[in-house]
Amino acid sequence: MRHIMVLNAKGGSGKTTIATNLASYYASQGKQVLLADYDPQGSSLDWLKARSKGRPHIQGVAAWKGTMRPARNTEIVIMDPPAAVHGRDLANLLRKAETILIPVLPSPIDMRAAAAFVETVKGSARVTKKQAKIALVANRVREYTNIYHELEAFLGKLKVPVVGHLRDSMNYIRAAERGLGIFELGPAASQIDREQWQSVIRWLNSKRSRP
Ligand SMILES: Nc1ncnc2c1ncn2[C@@H]1O[C@H](COP(=O)(O)OP(=O)(O)OP(=O)(O)O)[C@@H](O)[C@H]1O
Ligand SMILES: [Mg+2]
Repeated sequence: MRHIMVLNAKGGSGKTTIATNLASYYASQGKQVLLADYDPQGSSLDWLKARSKGRPHIQGVAAWKGTMRPARNTEIVIMDPPAAVHGRDLANLLRKAETILIPVLPSPIDMRAAAAFVETVKGSARVTKKQAKIALVANRVREYTNIYHELEAFLGKLKVPVVGHLRDSMNYIRAAERGLGIFELGPAASQIDREQWQSVIRWLNSKRSRP
């Protein structure tokens, strides 16, 4: 069973958006997906509630309540933790996944917070013992802006692979409303977003994302 976590202590960086899009992507590839919501806000499970029964099935679990029972044929577990996880809670979360994606927004506040957070995760036993692989995803980017270039320079310095750049797009909001991912929207309207996901998916499907 594969465990992929979308993690950042900073609120609103796109954890739930990326987690739900990954769940929808793998489900539409015919995988048995479990979406584990570790956030008592329950945003991932709300997303799942909005999803119509006709769509590829995703099992949802309120993982913040404690034990979770994956269906026996589960292939991929996507984990959506809350913001503001530190210390022991963070160490406990890190133990649950072999692959960790950290979304970072192009904003000075988010970048500063991410610098400290990424260092903490890099220094965690889980990562130093090579039991988990981490990568960064730039989220809500708008190319040709100054802050975009600052984000690029900043991400380059963190010495963690940057595996994707997802643009700021209403497509994410429209998809979320309906319990869908970008891959389930009309191909013409979502073509740029689908293309942007390819590098994330390539990394996730490669050995580089596994210990
Ligand atoms: N690439 C994007 N384009 C447009 N809107 C986005 C994008 N990514 C995230 N958003 C929006 O930004 C807001 C925050 O995103 P999201 O809920 O995924 O972050 P989060 O890290 O899970 O937040 P929290 O820390 O509260 O759990 C949401 O309204 C979401 O729809
Ligand atoms: Mg969230």
